[in-house]
Amino acid sequence: MSAEPLSRPRILLTRRWTEEVEQYLSGKFEVTFNRDDAPMDAAALRAAMRDYDALCPTVTDRIDESVLSVPGRRVQLIGNFGVGYNHIDIEAARRVGLRVSNTPDVLTDSTAELAILLLLMTTRRAGEGERELRAGRWSGWRPTHMMGQSLEGKALGLIGFGRIAQAAARKAHQAFGMRIAYNSRRRAGAAVEKETGAEFIDSVDELVATCDAVSLHCPGGPATFHLINTERLRLMQRHAVLINTARGPVVDEAALAAALAEKRIAAAGLDVYEDEPRVHPDLIGLENVVLLPHLGSATVETRTAMGMRVAQNLEAFFAGKPLRDPVV
Ligand code: DGY
Repeated sequence: MSAEPLSRPRILLTRRWTEEVEQYLSGKFEVTFNRDDAPMDAAALRAAMRDYDALCPTVTDRIDESVLSVPGRRVQLIGNFGVGYNHIDIEAARRVGLRVSNTPDVLTDSTAELAILLLLMTTRRAGEGERELRAGRWSGWRPTHMMGQSLEGKALGLIGFGRIAQAAARKAHQAFGMRIAYNSRRRAGAAVEKETGAEFIDSVDELVATCDAVSLHCPGGPATFHLINTERLRLMQRHAVLINTARGPVVDEAALAAALAEKRIAAAGLDVYEDEPRVHPDLIGLENVVLLPHLGSATVETRTAMGMRVAQNLEAFFAGKPLRDPVV
């Protein structure tokens, strides 16, 4: 008599993942893929909570209380594709006894690279230059054409000093000779400060007022909502640039657009927005802002590593082992 095959956990991926990860997962679980990559609405997410053992959303799926506390829920694990989890109501997950995992570490360098890209693009006016050339408005080389600012010896101020900020600090300090200052809830250890050349500044106001570039690396959520507002933009120096690869709501976009339009700061480089994929209309027409579509972790290597990290969490969970990256 042949043994009944054990049924495999049912997994739902809310969006397309890289082919390598999708193939890997289909060898391990009974997976439903989102072949046309269309975002799922709240009703579809609620239905999924009743039909699957694990739901694997991404940072653009809103997993709120109405999804998490759906009656007749079957899902036991939310395996988030992304390190940030401010789109998931973590308190509600805890209340209903759901586990949540995320994907730290593997996107650190690609996101730090993107912060450096925005730092270079803003200080060297790369977006503006490219637009001028493509529009046929470039009249040729001249000594005072589109002059930007050098990074060597300038101060980069980091708000938040987790893995991504530290990687950005290392790159800016070691590759470009920048001085590094940071503010965060907890001061880093002496070894990290030494290696990144970073000086702790106890006040956000002092940091934004004294640095030539300010780069945001704090988590999203109520504690950091509009941390960069009209008042803090007024504290920044006229030649300073603001970089945001963290979460859109950390910056008051309307206040930023006004500061940029009035040239109260030199430029901004944004990868994240308050209401993605909508971008504040006042930003779109400005020359002194670089606008990227949330590309921080968007390399083939990183997106595959993120998916594999979710896979490791799923495998651990369904084998009854501790999660590799527990959030709850
Ligand atoms: C994350 O993982 O939180 C990022 O925003 C995705 O790039």
